[in-house]
Parts: sequence; structure tokens; C-alpha cells
Amino acid sequence: MIKAAITAVSAYLPEYVLTNKELETMVDTTDEWITSRSGIKERRILRDKDKATAFMATEAAKSLLKKRNIAATELDLIIVATVTPDYQYPATANIVGDAIGAGDVWGFDVQAACSSFIYALETGARYIESGRYKKVMVIGADKMSSIIDYTDRNTCVLFGDGAGAVLLEPSTDETGIIDCKMYSDGSGRKSLFQKAGGSLHPSTAETVANREHFVTMDGQSVFKIAVIKMADVAEEMMQRNKLSSEDVAWLVPHQANKRIIDATAHRMGISTDKVMLNIQRYGNTTSATLPLCLYEWESQLKKGDNLILTTFGAGFTWGAIYIKWSY
Ligand code: UT7
Repeated sequence: MIKAAITAVSAYLPEYVLTNKELETMVDTTDEWITSRSGIKERRILRDKDKATAFMATEAAKSLLKKRNIAATELDLIIVATVTPDYQYPATANIVGDAIGAGDVWGFDVQAACSSFIYALETGARYIESGRYKKVMVIGADKMSSIIDYTDRNTCVLFGDGAGAVLLEPSTDETGIIDCKMYSDGSGRKSLFQKAGGSLHPSTAETVANREHFVTMDGQSVFKIAVIKMADVAEEMMQRNKLSSEDVAWLVPHQANKRIIDATAHRMGISTDKVMLNIQRYGNTTSATLPLCLYEWESQLKKGDNLILTTFGAGFTWGAIYIKWSY
């Protein structure tokens, strides 16, 4: 069977750094509270009003092409994982394709909240495995600051903006994306959602006045289930692939809360030096957390390393992917 291999990784982060100290001047919070409850110290914010998710995705895509030394026209498919598309339609993938000069390459967006990237990665991998597609770009990008209420201390301290991209190509050896398990449970939808702006509650003066176009989260109930499900699925991925904790070179967890990550690593029996953790610098960038980790740790990865990627997000959605690193 053809396997999909990640053959290059890239990222884009906006320059502006929003620190916990600055947040202290915006809402009733403290650096101590944010750090101890979430592990976050600062996050990046795309402040330019004319730029949004497609811009960050495009920057990541351009540097990915450069790195792999291929032309945009060589791409067969672009998948963008995002909860903050530039528009309801067209898809952000279409805008990125145009911006990088990929001609009339097809593409689409995938939305599964904080699990968007692994849903998109699994989707992209399947296209490669079909044998019909040779180069699939999967991008995770979110301008979370566009849907965050900076008067709500429950959410505004947690999120940041950013983008990461990977290129999928057919593997030439035994490495690549080996296994994947995804889950969702829509009964949890009201614990973390955006009330208005969809077809159920279209935008009106009232929905705007009621601040219903922002992230609404019952943090505690999301936390309780996230801690269990992310650890469950990571452990399941190890068990079904007969991987011991020694076999796992890296845990690549969604960066929502350091305590959730610690619990997952603990359940897997993995020490902290094998956990990719950059939440302190970027916060929760939703669809971008996993490719941002891969990008930052790329130079430490070795061919054949076993990586477990895992996420939990709104929906609820969660899952894990097992990758044998290809370069
Ligand atoms: O990526 C998608 C999935 N999202 C997640 O996984 C997020 C999951 N949830 C969490 O990470 C945590 O629940 C939070 C970091 C959001 C909150 O941590 P917590 O330990 O669950 O705190 P809490 O919600 O139980 O709040 C404890 C207290 C409350 O005050 P009272 O009611 O005890 O007086 C909150 O009002 O902390 C208060 N609080 C804050 N205080 C200072 C909430 N936000 C803040 C804040 N600064 N920013």
C-alpha cells in the first residue's frame, strides 16, 4: 500500500507579541493565573486589519514550496484546516491557491475546531494513498484574534494567531503516516462554540450587540473531557500499533493547556523531554498548533522516529495520528 509521507514543514507567525502583562491591563487577570492554569506566557497576534487567515496560510505555503524547491503548479491539492476562514465562502484553500500561483489547483477547507489539522492531515494522506495524488499541501491556520472577545477573561488569555503547513508525498520506504483514529461527539457542542454567524443564528444587530460572534467556552467541562479523551486516544494509538513508551520518540499534542498535555504524556509514560511544547510562546493557535510544533522541532527529528500527534477540540472532536518520520 502507498503511504503518505510528510516531506517538508513550514510555518508563519505574526510579529506582534501579546504578553500576559499586557492582558493584565485589558481584563481582570494575572500573569500568575494564566501561567499556572494554562502554561501560556505570550501569544502572537496578526494586527494588520487587511490580513487574515489566508495571508498567514499563504506565507507558510510559500516558504514550504521554497524549502522543498517545487513550483506551486506542481501541487495536486490544497487542504486548509481552519475555524477562521477569510470568508464563509469561498474556501480559504482557493484564496491560498491563487495567492501562491498554483493555477487552477483544487482545494477545500476542513473544519473540526482544534482537531482541524489532524482531520485535514488524515484526509490529505488518503488522497496520496489512493495513488492518484502526488503532492498534497495541508495547512493549519487560524486568526483566533478575529473571534476572541478581548473583554472575556475566560477565553482571551488562551488563544493566538499562526499558521503551519506540511507537504504530503508518496513515501518511498516504510516511513510515513502509519495509523489514524478520529472521534467526534456532537452532544458536546454547547461547551465550546460560536453562537451566531451561522445559518441558525445569522448575524443581526442584536447578535453583534450581545457579543455572540466570539468564542464561548465552558472551560471546566471542556477541560474535564479533554484530559480523558486526549490521553485515551493517544494510549489507544500506542496499543494498536504495539508501541511502548520507549518506542515513541515524540508526543506532538494540541497546545490548549499544559495540564492537558502533561496528563496525556503521563498516561503514555512519556517523559517531558519527548513532548513538543510551545504553548508558553504561542498559546492555542487552534488549527496551527501541530504543524507549528513539527516546524519548531524539525531539526531534532530523525528518519524513523515514531511520532504520536493528538488533539482535542470543540465539537467535541479528538483523535490521534501515528507517523514514522520520513527525513
Ligand atoms: O483547544 C480547544 C479545547 N479547549 C481547551 O481544552 C480548554 C480547556 N479548559 C481549560 O484549559 C481550563 O479550564 C481553563 C484554562 C480555561 C481554566 O482553568 P480552570 O482551572 O478550569 O479554571 P476555572 O474555569 O475553574 O476558573 C477558576 C476561577 C474562576 O473563578 P471563581 O468562579 O472560582 O471565582 C474563574 O472566574 O478562575 C477565574 N478565571 C480567571 N481568573 C483570572 C477564569 N479566567 C480567568 C483569568 N484570570 N483569565
